[in-house]
Amino acid sequence: NEGALWGGRFAGGPSPELQALSRSTHFDWQLALYDIRGSHAHTTALAAAGYLTAEEAERMHAGLDALAEGVRSGRIQPRAADEDVHGALETALLAEVGAELGGRLRAGRSRNDQIATLIRLYLIDHASVIARELVQLVDALVAQADAHPAAILPGRTHLQHAQPVLLAHHLQAHGWPLVRDLERLRDWRTRAGVSPYGGGALAGSTLGLDPELVARELGLDRPAENSMDGTAARDVVAEFAYITAQIGIDLSRLAEEIILWNTREFGFVTLDDGYSTGSSIMPQKKNPDIAELARGKSGRLIGNLAGLLATLKALPLAYNRDLQEDKEPVFDSIATLEVLLPAFTGMVATLRFDTERMASLAPQGFSLATDVAEWLVKQRVPFRDAHEISGALVRACEERGIGLEDASDELLAEVSAHLTPAVREVLTIEGSVASRTGVGGTAPERVAEQRAQLVSRTQSA
Ligand code: ARG
Repeated sequence: NEGALWGGRFAGGPSPELQALSRSTHFDWQLALYDIRGSHAHTTALAAAGYLTAEEAERMHAGLDALAEGVRSGRIQPRAADEDVHGALETALLAEVGAELGGRLRAGRSRNDQIATLIRLYLIDHASVIARELVQLVDALVAQADAHPAAILPGRTHLQHAQPVLLAHHLQAHGWPLVRDLERLRDWRTRAGVSPYGGGALAGSTLGLDPELVARELGLDRPAENSMDGTAARDVVAEFAYITAQIGIDLSRLAEEIILWNTREFGFVTLDDGYSTGSSIMPQKKNPDIAELARGKSGRLIGNLAGLLATLKALPLAYNRDLQEDKEPVFDSIATLEVLLPAFTGMVATLRFDTERMASLAPQGFSLATDVAEWLVKQRVPFRDAHEISGALVRACEERGIGLEDASDELLAEVSAHLTPAVREVLTIEGSVASRTGVGGTAPERVAEQRAQLVSRTQSA
């Protein structure tokens, strides 16, 4: 069993079928440089405890540096006989520094504590990449809001016209979930910064190695409190997969709106040529593929999370080989988001809004009926009655095929004595928007306030 990390107690080598099933280098090779970082830290701990002389430690570090160079350049590759990244790198190390020195590195560690540490290092690095990309998307939303400070959008509930809002209010509303995702990544980091390294297979080490030192060398906050938990827990991976799924869902909700806005029926936005696609048969088509891929890929991100949770369910302590199945789903989620987010941001940054069209549709569907009711409340009419009166005005206008703003003095008086011509002060879109001054509301000064909060939360996350 040449090149394997085990074999002493086996009379024969592994069957080819087992090897084919067991091999993980096609995905865990992504962790090779992290494995080497772990080995550097472990070398330092072995030297500190007296298991390597200073000279041996120096040669080991140099050999590991050569390995890292070989991995980066592609000179070192896993071979078919290698079970996993750990075995492949040990073989390469033995070739580099000789079996006598190379054979000392594995003391006091196991692949179980190694892999549990490496996945954390990998996720921490990619969390920063994703966070940076998220910030750029929030910035693009804010820039679009800034470019259209007075633009009006028909705000919807149930996809029906509800109340007019500022476009900036709506765009920033998509920024907030993304800011919470950024904060989730930051919170996650406090749990991810734990080093299982040195916990061994499960029970801890007899060699007196310093796990604090290893954690520090790896840029982690502290060693795992419990070696069994350290090697067996993967909630930190599942939590990361959840955050990526939530990001996917947040993107997909905005994506769905962009897809609708881009239809001829809505006509609210035009997509930039660089961020839309054509049809192979219909020459006129310009399709919102980025938004559709975001919507579609959110399903994939959810699937990765669900698959991982299913793997973890009911696994007994401590390490089980099932845990190898943690990597592909979360690697896929990361690769998916890291490609999706920049494309999505480019699409958002280059959207062109037809603000005239949006403004012309905003009053439709009697979207100022709530303003009429609230105006009546300010005239001391109980809201129950105000709601009835405003509803009756909507019905009267609908029967006549006119908008609320077109109702004559006579019609107003006919519907209710409370409806004096003064009600017209709230029957403009601008007046309606400007009057929604409650916290978080759509009045321009409130939206400006929200912008400042959104940007400051983006920066502190
Ligand atoms: N490849 C394994 C994983 O990804 C780590 C190796 C542990 N293997 C073992 N037989 N204990 O989880």
